[in-house]
Amino acid sequence: MKVLVVGGGGREHAIAMALSRNSDVELYAVMAQANPGIARLCKGFLVEKETLVTAVSRFARANAVDYAIIGPEAPLEAGVVDVLEEAGIPCVGPTRAAARLETDKAFCREMMERHGIAGCPRYRVFYRAEDAIMFLEEYPGDLAIKPVGLTGGKGVRIMGEHLDRKGAADYIRGLGSGVVLEERLIGEEFTLQAFTDGSHLVPMPLVQDHKRAYEGDEGPNTGGMGSYSLPDHTLPFVTEEDRQKAQNIMQSAVSAMDAAGTPYRGILYGQFMNTREGPMVIEFNARFGDPEAMNVLSLLETDLLRIMERIVEGNLPALPVRFSRKATVCKYIVPEGYPDSPVPDQPVTLGAYEPAILYYANVRESGGVLYTGSSRTMAFVGVGDTLEEAERIAESAASGVTGRVRHRRDIGTSALLQRRVAHMRELR
Ligand code: AMP
Ligand code: GLY
Repeated sequence: MKVLVVGGGGREHAIAMALSRNSDVELYAVMAQANPGIARLCKGFLVEKETLVTAVSRFARANAVDYAIIGPEAPLEAGVVDVLEEAGIPCVGPTRAAARLETDKAFCREMMERHGIAGCPRYRVFYRAEDAIMFLEEYPGDLAIKPVGLTGGKGVRIMGEHLDRKGAADYIRGLGSGVVLEERLIGEEFTLQAFTDGSHLVPMPLVQDHKRAYEGDEGPNTGGMGSYSLPDHTLPFVTEEDRQKAQNIMQSAVSAMDAAGTPYRGILYGQFMNTREGPMVIEFNARFGDPEAMNVLSLLETDLLRIMERIVEGNLPALPVRFSRKATVCKYIVPEGYPDSPVPDQPVTLGAYEPAILYYANVRESGGVLYTGSSRTMAFVGVGDTLEEAERIAESAASGVTGRVRHRRDIGTSALLQRRVAHMRELR
């Protein structure tokens, strides 16, 4: 079976590695820059912007691929699934219309409201900055400020955290786009990813990501510095009732998209804030999380190709999907100065990293030497019977890397976990 992976980051390397565990899979990739890990697993690849959907489709047809799976959101927004499916290539990933769940934050909230889906914070959408600012000035509490469109995970600002009221008004004025203003939620965040065939949902283990650049959750937001998951596939500050509610919310979103005539197939990612009252939706993403894909795909025991086939057929319940009951810790190596002023094009050297799993991301190989880009470089995943073991494996691999790079040492440590548990206890 020939499978095309669209995308060239750490998440897509994890997808490619999971697919290549099936020796019948012949892999192809389209990526903006040759990811050395993906390139090694592929029979053929094209280095091209992933949003150039006609080039992606031409490459897919030329290689007669049987299926495609889309990693990042940008090609989904550009309609890569619509174009590939028109060419007769079934995809794991939503059409452009269904991907609006992620690519248009106003659409997402309005859909939740229209269908009475639980977990939707109070929100307002504005397309004129003056109106948004007037609302902001009269609003009694803190707000989350979200540009309507895609911002690479870096466009959201939270009053009381990143900005005061005056700063918030200035930020909105500078946006020059539609904006969603919503109540600031207080709690602990978690990620629930699920496979969906358009009507059924198969949940994956819960993961917690770390958005802030520096240890102790300080500094600017990033694409995600690392993440962990536990052997029981839940998190200590999320009860089974919370987890079930989150899953029900995602199921309702899938049903609503189907009812609206824009069925959603692929991976659905729910970012939740677990509040005093239970899980609230921060956002939906139309794809695996990066880094969270690396946690769950390192645990996936079921053949990913079989899952893709069931998704495309609309018959997910026919296949039991299993994840091994182990802990994972993922740590991203990033260039010095990331995300605000990264120093790119620096050589990096790996230490002896095994038994950690290495996923390459924004890194270039030239003459046998690895060079950083300006985004996240590579990630290490430790898998272990306990969180401590998984953390030790990931940390030892990450600290063996030399060059002008850094990583967060605190991800997956029990000190950080205890802080989150204590915060939740305080709230409830
Ligand atoms: P997003 O780009 O939507 O993932 O948002 C980035 C980060 O902003 C999230 O991971 C949260 O930490 C935070 N955030 C987004 N919406 C809210 C909200 N309504 N209340 C509090 N924090 C939020
Ligand atoms: N880790 C957050 C994201 O993939 O959007």
